[in-house]
Amino acid sequence: MNIKRVAVLTSGGDAPGMNAAIRAAVRSGLNKGWQMFGIRHGYQGLINGYVTPLGARDVGGILERGGTILHTARSPEFKTREGQLKGLNTLSENQIDALMVIGGGGSQTGSARLSEMGYPVIGVASTIDNDLYGSDISIGVNTALNTALEAIDKLRVTASSHDRAFMIEVMGRDYGYLALISGITGGAEYIIIPEVPVNPGDVVAEIRSAYNRGKSHALIVVAEGAQCNAEAIEKYFREHEIDLGFEIRTTRLGHIQRGGMPTSFDRLLGTRLAAAAVDCLEQGRHGVLTGLINGREATTPLSEVASKKKELDLSLLKLARILAE
Ligand code: ADP
Ligand code: F6P
Repeated sequence: MNIKRVAVLTSGGDAPGMNAAIRAAVRSGLNKGWQMFGIRHGYQGLINGYVTPLGARDVGGILERGGTILHTARSPEFKTREGQLKGLNTLSENQIDALMVIGGGGSQTGSARLSEMGYPVIGVASTIDNDLYGSDISIGVNTALNTALEAIDKLRVTASSHDRAFMIEVMGRDYGYLALISGITGGAEYIIIPEVPVNPGDVVAEIRSAYNRGKSHALIVVAEGAQCNAEAIEKYFREHEIDLGFEIRTTRLGHIQRGGMPTSFDRLLGTRLAAAAVDCLEQGRHGVLTGLINGREATTPLSEVASKKKELDLSLLKLARILAE
């Protein structure tokens, strides 16, 4: 494969460290003698033809910035074959030889579709949810975890001062990783994740138990994707007059988990994965995701990434319960 012109796009939820990946992709590609391009606004921009040349200076001063300088989008149109064909048309009109897609599970399913249609595409693992098959950890996870943790630490202070229970709802879509790890590292009394269904009665029992054990607070970290999420629990509390010992409050961390300055871990991960993706393209390898497996850059076929589910290590949930004593 004779590569001369390569384009990069970011897609799906933005993740801190995406800019480090864009910078590494552009400068590594330039170093190979290629012309580099950015596609703005993800797959929607690919459909609309938002292609722009990127030089070394265009990606300066962005390492420390969260979000993505290329902007991102969710594009329902790209899920259709017509949308994908329009995207391929943009690539062919601009004589782009290969495309790098920096994004999560949905975005890499889009990459898999382009690859099945015969176009050279390479994925880079990036989502705060850490639900992407083919990477032990994705770009953005470490920063999002630290953001959640900072909030949990602060909420524990006020919870403890008032002898209150707090429900803290974290993101993660329908995967429990962010809740599990922020919960165990934040010392939560109880963690609720989609993978292990509970009912509101279990939550009541846990809060009461923490109170009876003489705790000055109870922190419940709950994943947004759990069926028994903060809204369901609040509804249960409203409908039943329950004496918990503690008063209870709820905080939804929401999109602040996606913002902020990327940690050194995410800058390094973005840098390593995008540079590895450029090396793959140079070697004529595409149709794969570059991720981190057992501490090293590794590739997984996009067909597997799009079809396989990543397992969550539930042993940490048991450990969190023991340590909440
Ligand atoms: P993430 O990549 O962070 O998981 P999304 O699930 O929103 O975020 O996916 C991002 C975009 O990827 C979608 O808006 C859509 O354009 C594209 N995409 C998602 N699923 C598919 C699919 N099954 N086929 C083709 N493209 C898809
Ligand atoms: O995939 C990242 C993520 O932040 C999920 O954790 C969350 O469910 C979703 O995106 C929120 O999407 P939006 O930004 O479109 O509201």
